[in-house]
Amino acid sequence: MPYVKVAICGAAGGIGQPLSLLMKTNPLVTELALFDIVNTPGVAADLSHINTPAKVTGYKGNDELAQALAGSYMVIIPAGVPRKPGMTRDDLFNINAGIVKSLAVGIATHCPKALICIISNPVNSTVPIVAEVLKQHNVFDPRKLFGVTTLDIVRANTFISGAKNVSVQGTEVPVIGGHSGVTIVPILSATPSYSEEEVKALTQRIQYGGDEVVKAKDGAGSATLSMAFAGARFANSLLDATVAKKSGVKECTFVKSDVVPGVEYFSSVVEFGPEGVHKIFPIPSLNAYEKTLFDACIPELKTNIQKGIDFVKNA
Ligand code: APR
Repeated sequence: MPYVKVAICGAAGGIGQPLSLLMKTNPLVTELALFDIVNTPGVAADLSHINTPAKVTGYKGNDELAQALAGSYMVIIPAGVPRKPGMTRDDLFNINAGIVKSLAVGIATHCPKALICIISNPVNSTVPIVAEVLKQHNVFDPRKLFGVTTLDIVRANTFISGAKNVSVQGTEVPVIGGHSGVTIVPILSATPSYSEEEVKALTQRIQYGGDEVVKAKDGAGSATLSMAFAGARFANSLLDATVAKKSGVKECTFVKSDVVPGVEYFSSVVEFGPEGVHKIFPIPSLNAYEKTLFDACIPELKTNIQKGIDFVKNA
């Protein structure tokens, strides 16, 4: 087995800690490098006592970013800041975009061949930000950059099996497009039949499922545990295909794509191979309602993508 170092940037956060715990349980991981600007020595010491093979190392502060990333096979990024009172959406965008951009420079410099999984929001913009930085450093490999949209699929599976009272284990709903609001396009026609009202209600719930969590947490945070689960599911699938060379592994994920002309990044079903993306499946046939969702997704998604590109180009 190769030496598989997985770096998690933002490892001390609400998503980062449970994600680190889940990745510690993957036997394919040789080293788990936890990076954050706070608290990583404690999180690393704690996780290091778990008797699974991965060795855990902790790196704190930007001075230790190079060491954290050096030689990484995979980098997962859930770093960011929560929205604070008085902060506008644009303020938040600029801060998170800046964090992701600086981490991307680190990746380009210290582990340019790594598989990169982006969780930091807004994913529709942060993925193009990372791509632009990698392009500037001449190390962009579109097969290795992923926006993690798995929580949308996880939610769709849960909500649908609940509504239909069918086993959640056998439910797998494709969700295409982007990773926020109207850009999320669940393909419910791929699963058992519903009434028109049911489809609309389920679609709305999948698109805005994150708000349920924010509300239930009294506005003090967003999805962390379910996001960590989804992030680990995604990373484990990718390691199954690339490290364990398992064939036929598929996930919906936001990647550089030409399935929709004029839309540079798009989430659809992707089959993984030894180098990352192996095959991007075309959009499945859409019914009339899904077509209206798709039409609403595209202009918003294009704007989000351009915002990410401009953030790097106009810096
Ligand atoms: N490098 C590394 N880590 C950083 C940096 C940085 N430059 N800046 C902030 N962090 C860390 C914080 O110290 C914190 O530990 O990122 C972590 C973020 O954790 P939380 O604030 O708890 O946020 P969380 O709920 O985990 O969400 C993180 O994921 O879903 C997205 O929108 C969400 O963009 C947000 C991100």
